[in-house]
Amino acid sequence: MKKPIIIDCDTGTDDAIALICAHLCKEIDVIGITTVSGNVELDYTSENTLNLVDEIGWNIDVVKGKAKPLSRDLITASHIHGRTGLGDVVLKRSTRGFYDEEVASYIYKKAKEYNGEMSMLTLGPMTNIANAILRYPDIKDFIKEIVFMGGSLKGGNVTSVAEFNIYVDPEAANIALESGIPLTMVGLDVTEKVIMTETDRDYFKEFNNPHANITAKILDFMFKRSERFGREGALMHDGLALASMVLPELLKKEKHYARVETEGKITTGMVVVDKRRFAKDKKNVDIALDVDVNMFKSWMRDLICY
Ligand code: RIB
Ligand code: CA
Repeated sequence: MKKPIIIDCDTGTDDAIALICAHLCKEIDVIGITTVSGNVELDYTSENTLNLVDEIGWNIDVVKGKAKPLSRDLITASHIHGRTGLGDVVLKRSTRGFYDEEVASYIYKKAKEYNGEMSMLTLGPMTNIANAILRYPDIKDFIKEIVFMGGSLKGGNVTSVAEFNIYVDPEAANIALESGIPLTMVGLDVTEKVIMTETDRDYFKEFNNPHANITAKILDFMFKRSERFGREGALMHDGLALASMVLPELLKKEKHYARVETEGKITTGMVVVDKRRFAKDKKNVDIALDVDVNMFKSWMRDLICY
């Protein structure tokens, strides 16, 4: 039985690779893709998404979502992803338009249509799903689960304690955490363990197909960027969140009661876990703490190298 999902993304580089994998993954039925601002501004994340799906021949709805967080100014990572979000990877401009529906209405309509079987995979700030939860309180009865790439217990990447997706819209993350919808957090605790190397990239280069070619090009840019920041390899944050939906043994998880700090001068965006005895009845999220890296890399290679 294919798993029906909506992918919400802020296409940048690792989102793009996750979308390529989603297109090829036979266990996933992507109903539609919604876009959000994050890595770069909404126009760019949306155009990147539309251009990418066209590049790989994927005729799927792309719905342009929210341009800014619920209640704070947008902060992007354009200094990392390049102005357009895909660095020096240039894609042909799509000739088709975005699916013409407001994002919260689209998510709600699809959730009702799939009568509770649809899951959300969020790969950027959680602004869109938060808008849908605020506007349609009964949506929690129609969304099977939200798997989100975001958060971290071991320390942040955009501040000492905050991971980027949560940091950009911490209020949205809290709305998801308080929604009652089953949640899985795929954060830096596991995504920073999945480092693609140039050997991994060379493996993709050997397979001359559209998906492998674009994946290798994106990895090339990610390696150049990593060197600039004195880092090794390329992190597959978003691809790992996708993989966790079809590989039940991939992640080691623990259920906790977690909230996100929204006011701290140095702690805003931090995921705060409460392990006190009273909190055991309030556990609201499965948090990934470890990952089988080889299982992920084999899955990705088998998917893309056909
Ligand atoms: O912190 C990593 C996350 O922020 C990834 O989803 C990346 O694409 C950016 O959105
Ligand atoms: Ca992302």
